[in-house]
Amino acid sequence: MRDLQNCFNQDAVAAELQSVITNLLDVTKEIALAVRQAALADVLGSVQVQNVQGETQKKLDVIANDLLKAALKKNIHVRALASEEDEHVIALHNSGRYVVAFDPLDGSSNIDVNGQVGTIFTVYPGLDNVAADSPLQFFQQGKNQLCAGYVLYGPSTALVLTNGGPTRCFTLDSHHNEFVLTNAKLQVPQNTEEFSINMANQRFWSDNFKRYIADLLAGETGVRGKRFTMRWNAAMVGDVHRVLTRGGIFMYPNDSRHPRQPAKLRLLYEANPMAMLVENAGGKACSEATNKIQRILDIVPDALHQRVSVILGAANEVDICIVYLFKRD
Ligand code: AHG
Ligand code: MN
Ligand code: MN
Ligand code: MN
Repeated sequence: MRDLQNCFNQDAVAAELQSVITNLLDVTKEIALAVRQAALADVLGSVQVQNVQGETQKKLDVIANDLLKAALKKNIHVRALASEEDEHVIALHNSGRYVVAFDPLDGSSNIDVNGQVGTIFTVYPGLDNVAADSPLQFFQQGKNQLCAGYVLYGPSTALVLTNGGPTRCFTLDSHHNEFVLTNAKLQVPQNTEEFSINMANQRFWSDNFKRYIADLLAGETGVRGKRFTMRWNAAMVGDVHRVLTRGGIFMYPNDSRHPRQPAKLRLLYEANPMAMLVENAGGKACSEATNKIQRILDIVPDALHQRVSVILGAANEVDICIVYLFKRD
């Protein structure tokens, strides 16, 4: 706890907010264990329930969600919760100063194949002018986040966290069950030769985006003659961790599969926390809406589970991608 406490002190994090974050992180230590033991505890696979996203929930989606809700319900500083796995806001303590949103298990399609998964979380100041259980508590721009982070359950359990200052990385010391600071200031290089996208969706992309990827693969974008390599973890938390630790550009663009909902990733508990982490590490995070490109952290939400396209990472490469998206023939 010493390293985390030192960082809270450096960032002047209020004691009440510290208690919310440490309660949440204590739960991620339990989730890390549940993930590691999943096959032995027969909690792999799915439950026969669809969540509000229209996804079949994994057993560990439910376990992680229940653990987080049970723990945060006890914290009097939490006014309300929002989760990928719950359709509605969960009102807790009217006098609480904070509202918390989370993706309890990101990349859960990886769990049955022992792939990377993680928990993504964010904290906003509660709004006094709306009811505690109103989704309006969460219709705040991402730039209002007080803290954002994720815990990646990989070969090591890594916490990446920003309280508005630097984006830091901690590693769980399993002997002492404490997060130890392992990188005091993550930095995303301005340029990159590594991109991350689900190429299987190519036929659904816009013509502009197809052209960007075609030129990128031909070595035409960015610094002339670059040879790109491609990575895809199928878990945003794993793909973004690679961007934050060694650079790259991660993209989940709009596609034509669902015309009314062309994007996949959720603004509140995926795009916004990741955007804050990436920007505080010197990267960029943008989204393509109808005929406009926005900084993700400036988007004004209008639905709890709103989806947005995501282009984040190396600032210069994000800029090049945006030029392609703006191109009008
Ligand atoms: P979740 O497991 O929380 O539902 O999120 C999955 C998301 C994200 O982690 C990942 O980047 C993306 O879905 C992968 O989508 P595809 O499987 O369509 O590539
Ligand atoms: Mn899901
Ligand atoms: Mn997710
Ligand atoms: Mn999830």
